[in-house]
Amino acid sequence: MVNRMTKLFLTIGMAAVFGSLVWVTVPTVSGAPDDATKTLYNQKCASCHGMDGAGTTPMGKKLNLKDLKSKEVQAMTDAKLIEVTAKGKGKMPGYEKSLGADKVKALVGYIREMAKKK
Ligand code: HEC
Repeated sequence: MVNRMTKLFLTIGMAAVFGSLVWVTVPTVSGAPDDATKTLYNQKCASCHGMDGAGTTPMGKKLNLKDLKSKEVQAMTDAKLIEVTAKGKGKMPGYEKSLGADKVKALVGYIREMAKKK
């Protein structure tokens, strides 16, 4: 019982921290680049690619997405991943116009990071 309550409080606490993180990092991207990029990924990309990049969201499954951490995707060059993210491909929207080239690059960096943590 105590354990359950603790877990519940932890979950709520984490949700609050995450919520405020989104709120704080988005308008002031310069503060913490890594957190900002992660937040951006979670906001813009996770709906299809999933928080972990595996593409196991309902949308990801429908689109038949590859796992961003897979060898197949990681074997692509940075230039290629940047190109897809910037310009889009098939059902994937392009993000260069809305996010700018720097953020597109940072997001590709984050995709590389995810693969390392696997
Ligand atoms: C509407 C769903 C959707 C969203 C949102 C989305 N993607 Fe994609 N993404 C796709 C699809 C579909 C493909 C596969 C394109 C193809 O090969 O035809 C893809 C492919 C990619 C690829 C190339 C790897 C591969 O599987 O071929 C990268 C890198 C990528 N997305 C990054 C991102 C990033 C970064 C974001 C957020 C800024 C993002 N995507 C948002 C649907 C999405």
